[in-house]
Amino acid sequence: MSKAIQAVRGMNDLLPEAVERWQLVETTARDVLHAYGYREIRLPVLEKSELFTRSIGGQTDIVEKEMYSFEDRNGESLTLRPEGTAGCVRAGIENGFLHNQIQRLWYAGPMFRHERPQKGRYRQFHQIGVEAFGIDSPDLDAELILMCVRLWKSLGLEGLTLELNSLGSPESRAAYRAKLTRYLAAHRAELDEDSLRRLEKNPMRILDSKHPGMQQVIAGAPNLRDHLDIGSRDHFDRLGDHLKESGVAYRINPQLVRGLDYYTRTVFEWTTDRLGAQSAVCAGGRYDGLVEQLGGRAAPAAGFAIGMERLVGLLALQHPSPSSGAPEAYLVLLGKLAERQGLPLAERLRNAGLRIEYNCGGGELKAQLKRADRSGARFALMLGDEEMRDKTVTVKDMRGQEIQVSVHQDVLIDFLNERTGRRMKA
Ligand code: HAM
Repeated sequence: MSKAIQAVRGMNDLLPEAVERWQLVETTARDVLHAYGYREIRLPVLEKSELFTRSIGGQTDIVEKEMYSFEDRNGESLTLRPEGTAGCVRAGIENGFLHNQIQRLWYAGPMFRHERPQKGRYRQFHQIGVEAFGIDSPDLDAELILMCVRLWKSLGLEGLTLELNSLGSPESRAAYRAKLTRYLAAHRAELDEDSLRRLEKNPMRILDSKHPGMQQVIAGAPNLRDHLDIGSRDHFDRLGDHLKESGVAYRINPQLVRGLDYYTRTVFEWTTDRLGAQSAVCAGGRYDGLVEQLGGRAAPAAGFAIGMERLVGLLALQHPSPSSGAPEAYLVLLGKLAERQGLPLAERLRNAGLRIEYNCGGGELKAQLKRADRSGARFALMLGDEEMRDKTVTVKDMRGQEIQVSVHQDVLIDFLNERTGRRMKA
């Protein structure tokens, strides 16, 4: 036998049991987003590399070390998207739906980053992303956060903390950055290797360092909040008021700087202490300068993205068995005639909205019942000569006390609806 081929490291298969939980999150998120007037946009997975260099920033970890970039057959540098914001802005400019307009959009799909894989961190991962354009007031920031709150509630999730910060305007941020660089350079001897590397190029990311030896230097660093311009400070205070009025708890984290360069003013992260090292489940903020930076006419914008693997992981911890996608009934067929009559019977049951698995390929009663059991179906519906003569089926409860009853086919849908707790009318 030749050697079996394995998946690319950090890129996972999602098996059917896992997909059911994903679908629950996806449908719940879609309903929540639609309730706030957000509409889905579908974007390419592959973009020109320059798009990410110009938006995320040439000196960020993502662009420097993590992008899946390659030259295509025409020698053009392309990149598998590491995130969705840049592509969404590109699409908005290209299709002319940003200028002087309000747009509320969302997207979902795979993203790619060549990071070191570990629990909760993958090379292909999935996001549900939300982007809103054309609104510069903090009520939009609050709306984005309230949407997250509603989603966590709808999924029955607990233990998510909202962390907030403001990065200020590009000007106030540049002034702060210069001051921070001077402070850190004066403490060069105390910086770890990673921070030394970041000192010149991306000093604000040093504030984000989790290195235990770095915490004292970070604690003594100039505080970004003290250097905010008046407009950003006012924006942040008003966001805080909106959140208080809506009863949303938050923690101001002055060290929250984010790993992408396009943010201005508000940044936020939803974190949990229940998933280990990869604690950020959702993150985002304002990026009022990005549309112009990418060649469009200036438009304010804000958004966030949820890390699906992490959100689903949290859901699995807190709700180990969500409603399963198993069929409600498995149709067992005894004999050739039953197989023929079984197909239209299964169709009639499905027309009534029931999930029915039909036993393809025949087999002994025992083997068929074993398959019925494995399918996870609540009921086995048995159709043989006797049942066909009487226009009945024999219904076996596979999950209860294995009671068998004979049910006339005319009332079978009502019977199954009642027993499975469904309300649907035939
Ligand atoms: P981000 O913080 O880079 O932001 O990613 C958002 C979320 O994606 C993270 O909080 C995390 O849950 C998940 N995530 C990121 N990298 C990985 C990975 N390697 N494996 C698993 N999950 C991961 C953005 O991507 C921005 N585009 C968000 C945004 C939208 N800001 C404004 N609009």
